[in-house]
Amino acid sequence: MLKAVVVMVGCMVLPTSYAVASAMHGKELYEQNCASCHGMDGKVSELGKALKPFPARDLTALAATVDRDELRRIIAYGIKGTDMVPKKYDLDAAGIEDVIDYILTFKRKVDMKNGKKRFEQVCATCHGVDGRAKTGMGAKNLVYSDLTLKETVHTIRYGRPGTKMSGKRHQLSNPDIEDIANYVHELRFKADANKGEKIFVSTCKTCHASPSAIRLVGNRAHQTTIAELNDYVLDLRIRHGRHIHLSRKAVKKLSEDDAQDLIAYLRQETQ
Ligand code: HEC
Ligand code: HEC
Ligand code: HEC
Repeated sequence: MLKAVVVMVGCMVLPTSYAVASAMHGKELYEQNCASCHGMDGKVSELGKALKPFPARDLTALAATVDRDELRRIIAYGIKGTDMVPKKYDLDAAGIEDVIDYILTFKRKVDMKNGKKRFEQVCATCHGVDGRAKTGMGAKNLVYSDLTLKETVHTIRYGRPGTKMSGKRHQLSNPDIEDIANYVHELRFKADANKGEKIFVSTCKTCHASPSAIRLVGNRAHQTTIAELNDYVLDLRIRHGRHIHLSRKAVKKLSEDDAQDLIAYLRQETQ
């Protein structure tokens, strides 16, 4: 009774209270429709653990890692071949949003130690212990990756079709995926534009007075600017191909990390 009053009052006041009210309503819907498998706290019930072919999944690690759109799609349409059947017949659109609001209140603390351990067990054969992918497996160097946390998680969950990067959704729990993704982001190289400036002065300035004085070459060069090239392509144009000769091999002594610092400086000066 008291609960019903609170929900009603909540609905009549400001948007923030509305969100509180909808999360409360979501809690009830969750209790009725989801908790039997996913557990009231999102940590999977005994029943959920025993399901075949795939157990129910821990929902506590989704708030920071999976887009609302994806949650909505999974809840409405289910996951084929599993006990996660479509819920669009049991819940209306507003009810699904309320359940999502409730799931997003589940929070957990990222465990970097676990992330490191699981990364080394599951990913390092291809991506290397340092994430630089010097393994001959054709994997991507993760220390220069510019994916957002959610994009990294999406890649871990579903992989990249047609490559050796297979989806790991059934191999890893959501908490593991959250920990690994955060660990992978911590491995990232932090480019330093000040170091980049020093490299520019010592290596490039004899031929290019300033970053904005660099002229791109090749097709459509006059229509393209440095700002429009992504880091990968810019690095290719500086350290590889014809520029090795144009620069009289000055660029050959640059390391991968030097190139990242340099690119950070070029970006800062040519926005
Ligand atoms: C009968 C058991 C059962 C019920 C009830 C159930 N689920 Fe599931 N759910 C599962 C299973 C099993 C999976 C994992 C399927 C897989 O591994 O592909 C799953 C997966 C999910 C996922 C995807 C998680 C991920 O990491 O990809 C979400 C989100 C989800 N359920 C939400 C819900 C919500 C919300 C409800 C209630 C409206 C609900 N489920 C009710 C069994 C259930
Ligand atoms: C069997 C080898 C293999 C394993 C194991 C593997 N990967 Fe990959 N990964 C790849 C390959 C190959 C690519 C490049 C795919 C492409 O060309 O888009 C890739 C790409 C990625 C990317 C995209 C990076 C970007 O910037 O586009 C991420 C993120 C990633 N992997 C993370 C992981 C994580 C985390 C694990 C462990 C849970 C893992 N991978 C395990 C081979 C692997
Ligand atoms: C010995 C002279 C020389 C040095 C040293 C040199 N460059 Fe160049 N670079 C050139 C010439 C010549 C071109 C052709 C365009 C032009 O004439 O401006 C060029 C073109 C470029 C381009 C465009 C390439 C393309 O494919 O569009 C970039 C980017 C560039 N240089 C960056 C650098 C950076 C960064 C450094 C320092 C690490 C550097 N250059 C050092 C001579 C040099």
